[in-house]
Amino acid sequence: LRVARRSLATSSGGGPGGYVAAIKAAQLGLKTACVEGRGALGGTCLNVGCIPSKSLLHNSHLYHVAHEEFTKRGIDGASNLKINLPTMMKAKEKAVTGLTRGVESLLKKNKADYVKGWGTIVNAGEISVTGLDGTKSTLKTKNIIIATGSEPSPFPGVDVDEKVIVTSTGALSLEKIPESLIVIGGGVIGLELGSVWNRLGSKTTVVEFADSVGAGMDADMAKIFQKTLQKQGMNFKLGTKVISAKKNAAGKVEVVVEPAKGGPKETIVVDVVLLSIGRRPFTQNLGLEKAGVKLDTKGRVITDAQFKTNIPGIRAIGDVIAGPMLAHKSEEEGIAAAEYIHSGHGHVNYNAIPSVIYTHPEVAWVGLNEAEVKAKGIEYNVGLFPFVGNSRAKTIDDAEGTVKIIAEKKTDKILGAHIIGPGAGEMIAEAVLAIEYGASSEDIARTCHAHPTLSEAFKEAAMATYDKPIHF
Ligand code: FAD
Ligand code: NAI
Repeated sequence: LRVARRSLATSSGGGPGGYVAAIKAAQLGLKTACVEGRGALGGTCLNVGCIPSKSLLHNSHLYHVAHEEFTKRGIDGASNLKINLPTMMKAKEKAVTGLTRGVESLLKKNKADYVKGWGTIVNAGEISVTGLDGTKSTLKTKNIIIATGSEPSPFPGVDVDEKVIVTSTGALSLEKIPESLIVIGGGVIGLELGSVWNRLGSKTTVVEFADSVGAGMDADMAKIFQKTLQKQGMNFKLGTKVISAKKNAAGKVEVVVEPAKGGPKETIVVDVVLLSIGRRPFTQNLGLEKAGVKLDTKGRVITDAQFKTNIPGIRAIGDVIAGPMLAHKSEEEGIAAAEYIHSGHGHVNYNAIPSVIYTHPEVAWVGLNEAEVKAKGIEYNVGLFPFVGNSRAKTIDDAEGTVKIIAEKKTDKILGAHIIGPGAGEMIAEAVLAIEYGASSEDIARTCHAHPTLSEAFKEAAMATYDKPIHF
């Protein structure tokens, strides 16, 4: 990204961090350019992340519901359903293309330049760009925002070919439904994309090093979540580490695993392996070393609270710096970074960044989980409300899951909210707003919620936090 005019700025990276920063900077009157090398705007999120995965999650869920539930819901004839994978992939591509083009027109509308090419920082005031056609150009700027995002973490012994040993990128574009799939890493990508292929018919096994799934979610939620996914047919090998995954002569993948604490090795042969053990910051060929920009031990650009690096005039945001690797976190930082450049003031509340796993049911949370509250030595109350007590969830026969609210005992202030259930990803916005405004659980409980809605489960969990719920 480059931002200029009153004070120029340029950012490398056209993902949710970079393009949002560019739009905001331009709206604030700065002459701005956004440098992106992949040939399309929207970054990981729009091209090979949030958007394509949600398209496949949605359509595979529709198939699953039709196949597994239509008959009991009084709709006959679904037993002959067939999956047309190329059409499902086309629907995904349509969503991606529409949205990436949409971002391009948003940049245009806001008069921010889109520079197509790979940027290298020459110094704090200069970026050299190698265009997609190989031509070189230079951008002079007063401010640089690094927003170059992240890439899948590699794993020695597991050689990705994006055909049979894939990262999330390959798993979003498989040409046929694998009969069997091993997912290495039971975090967000593993459980979302594992769900997609499991629903479409792959015998799916998740191998996870830790003793629980969900990469750090509230322990109660992780247990419910795992059970729910097991009911859907997913298998789990927890406390297990992968030693290697190699393609054999028959084109299958031989995966060698052993218990994390040591023990006998086991070889499992599958059609496809998805490697999803986390992502790492992407700073290749960006010229950071030459420019003197400092990185931490994980390769992330070090910034202060205003996203300034150690080099004046260079800031960094999004996946390439510390914090959760989430599109909305990158966007918040993009807006704040542009505002800091413009006026010296910006704001990101890191206590109120929601996480959502878009499986069915969805899992969503914000703020502290119970273990974190305990570790901080805060006295707290927990309010629980299961969806079986919610009339809407019962009406639509989708009542698996629960809402858990954690509030400070002394003040009743909400510290965290954790939801597994239908519509959790939308419902969590209410909890985010509550935390942003410093609400108590009683504030939520005394707020009228429409009936019959799933959000009444959130209100009743709030009631249960300081008093008793009505419907359970
Ligand atoms: P990125 O989106 O990675 O964008 C960085 C861009 O910079 C890239 O387009 C890259 O080509 C470009 N670039 C890098 N170096 C240069 C250079 N030198 N010159 C020019 N351009 C350069 N997050 C969510 O919040 N919700 C989700 O549902 C979700 N789903 C996901 C699903 C998957 C499968 C994956 C992989 C990720 C998902 N994420 C999700 C995470 C989300 O995609 C990232 O957090 C987000 O994209 C980070 O935004 P960013 O702008 O920091 O970086
Ligand atoms: P992750 O950090 O969510 O999960 C990685 C999992 O792999 C962890 O549970 C970890 O214990 C496990 N693991 C690590 N090494 C292992 C090994 N050697 N063997 C077995 N298990 C191992 O990372 P993931 O799923 O790759 O996602 C990367 C990022 O993308 C996440 O930070 C996430 O925020 C983002 N993302 C967000 C989504 C969303 O918001 N819905 C969807 C997909 C990705």
